[in-house]
Amino acid sequence: MSSALNYRECHFKREFDGGAELPFQRENTMKENRYDDEIFFRKYGEMARSRYGLAGAGEWLELKKLLPDFTGKRVLDLGCGYGWHCKYAADHGASDVVGVDLSQRMLGRAMEQNTAPQIHYHCAAMEDLTFSAGRFDVVFSSLAFHYVRDFSPLVERISDWLRPGGELVFSVEHPVFTAYGSQDWYYDSQGKILHFPVDNYYYEGKREAIFLGEKVVKYHRTLTTYLEALLRNGFSIHHVIEPQPPAEMLGQPGMLDEMRRPMMLLVSATKGC
Ligand SMILES: C[S@@+](CC[C@H](N)C(=O)[O-])C[C@H]1O[C@@H](n2cnc3c(N)ncnc32)[C@H](O)[C@@H]1O
Repeated sequence: MSSALNYRECHFKREFDGGAELPFQRENTMKENRYDDEIFFRKYGEMARSRYGLAGAGEWLELKKLLPDFTGKRVLDLGCGYGWHCKYAADHGASDVVGVDLSQRMLGRAMEQNTAPQIHYHCAAMEDLTFSAGRFDVVFSSLAFHYVRDFSPLVERISDWLRPGGELVFSVEHPVFTAYGSQDWYYDSQGKILHFPVDNYYYEGKREAIFLGEKVVKYHRTLTTYLEALLRNGFSIHHVIEPQPPAEMLGQPGMLDEMRRPMMLLVSATKGC
């Protein structure tokens, strides 16, 4: 039996034992801070995106196209991690960059590797932040929103923090990638990939994914939820991109399989005036 099946059985058992009406019911739990775990943090540090920065991130070329002109802009990066995007904004003329992350260890790296006089790093959960209305021109987030349980209230606050006409650019794990939860392929008995599981798509909520060989809590929501939250909070959506691996990376081990399902979703939007 595959590990994915074991995962599924355990997951459903736990949810139904608790008397839940539906799988993936929302839970009132503390925010998980996996990136401060010593082993997880070390493994994350071995990824290409950690070692080589933006150049090591497969989606960067597409994400870069969505970024605004940073000249003179006040920028907020939610879940900034090592601070690569904060540094990029500062190097491209941003006047004030605030990087926020839940993990002290990730911020430690940011403060070692990606500093500039106009960058300020803060340790906090993005759900707990308060800023004055219109404080930022640009709000950015890379691969962090799927760690947040409730997306719509966050978008409402982001809208408040942005000045009218301000921009929101973010990437998240794609709903096709987060739906089932295990985030792993199905394999045949020889270990050859058969397909990627997509199931329980409309049951939004908590998933226990295996990322870097460790259990990590993430939150699945549908494409509709992501985009409608923006529209309902007065944003105009400009671009929605499902990035494919760049042609020059296709020769790397496993990269051709990345053409079989989307892994990320990139969105840019502007707050209405
Ligand atoms: C996959 S990493 C991405 C880091 C960085 N944005 C990048 O693209 O290089 C996700 C980051 O989100 C942070 N994070 C997770 N949940 C968070 C939350 N609720 N509030 C703030 N940061 C959070 C993690 O600590 C981690 O640094």
